[in-house]
Amino acid sequence: MSETTLLIHDLNAAVSPAGHGPLRGKSLGELEVHAPASVAISGERILAVGRPGDVLREHPPGPDCVSVDGRGKVVLPGLVDCHTHACFLGDRAREFELRSSGASYEELHAAGGGILSTVGATREGSEEELVAAVRRHLGWMLEHGTTTAEVKSGYGLNRDSELKMLQGIIRAATESPVDVSPTFLGAHTVPPEFESAGEYVDHIVREILPEAARYAEAADVFLERGSFEAPEARRYLEACREYGLRLRMHGDQFTERGAIPLAVELGIGSVDHLEATGEDGAKTLARSDVTAVLLPACALFLDLPLPPARTLVREGAIIALATDFNPGSSFCESLPIVMNLACTRLGLSPAEALAACTANAAHVLGLDGEVGRLSPGYCADVLVLDAPDWRYLAYHLGGDRFTARIKRGQLLSSGSGE
Ligand code: NIG
Ligand code: FE
Repeated sequence: MSETTLLIHDLNAAVSPAGHGPLRGKSLGELEVHAPASVAISGERILAVGRPGDVLREHPPGPDCVSVDGRGKVVLPGLVDCHTHACFLGDRAREFELRSSGASYEELHAAGGGILSTVGATREGSEEELVAAVRRHLGWMLEHGTTTAEVKSGYGLNRDSELKMLQGIIRAATESPVDVSPTFLGAHTVPPEFESAGEYVDHIVREILPEAARYAEAADVFLERGSFEAPEARRYLEACREYGLRLRMHGDQFTERGAIPLAVELGIGSVDHLEATGEDGAKTLARSDVTAVLLPACALFLDLPLPPARTLVREGAIIALATDFNPGSSFCESLPIVMNLACTRLGLSPAEALAACTANAAHVLGLDGEVGRLSPGYCADVLVLDAPDWRYLAYHLGGDRFTARIKRGQLLSSGSGE
């Protein structure tokens, strides 16, 4: 029998999304609750979650076992942020100020600012600087309970800079407790060196993708006016599929222009944003296995309409929540804040919001059965919340207070990168 190496004992409760795989429709809000509870961990994996007396009897702590006192507290699975742009240099504080006095995000983009200003700063910096930036951002995320994160490229937009980003993401991940899934976002927008989106997609497919695919696990494209239209997005995604990458798309952020029909036809993993999605689009997505990734911090940051979360859930879609952490449209690394917005603005229950940024976000990253639940055999990624009730995670706006974060069975002292 495996030895218990870490025991979290006498908790008020252990709370996790129920079931296996992604949850949808009515199942989205189903929880597995043990109250009171203890959690036994062996090495990197969860051994048992159950009544304190049962766990102690069946999995007695070994001589070197680390004990965490859970009295008055609750545990939850480590959070999974399935959509971030955490690899960038510079900032957009000036742009934030301009937007506060009326300039729109799309106007700034059209004038060569926005994404392209971060592309300029990111191209100029060294790989070392990028590694340091990603490591710092992962530290911030961990402070807020994120133990697994996706990080996209997409601020290089040429061969050298996109590869510098992907390599920087992978190097930063080796130096952080947070597990990272790198995504190639070569088709974020069209850089100024190219006349048209079509020419740039040709370039990506010929010159960047063959090498980027060695580092990335997934590919993403921004299908929107001013970036890529559906025919170019299709060509890019089909080429990325040839290289075995999981496929994702930024779609329906400002306008509906064919993102959902294309995503469903190609059977890609997720469409992210959906602030502009209407009733028909929501129903089409709900009938498919494409996950709808909702980014309410971005909607708040840009003052966009909110995505149709309740319709998606009612119609049976798989939904996930993420921060969209980036310097321009969502400078927010906190999934608990995103959960609060999901409850207060999108009409999700705390239980639905929890599943959306744990089990369902893990599904988006191809990590079903690995992370996102407190169940035997899962990776021991556990948050000890300093609150008597697990719902404080969403309820206490900006107040996520963890007394411990455990990643792969290791008790971390603090999340801070530096
Ligand atoms: O998801 N919409 C496209 N991309 C990002 C924003 C990136 C940026 O503004 O730097 C997003 O919102
Ligand atoms: Fe994004």
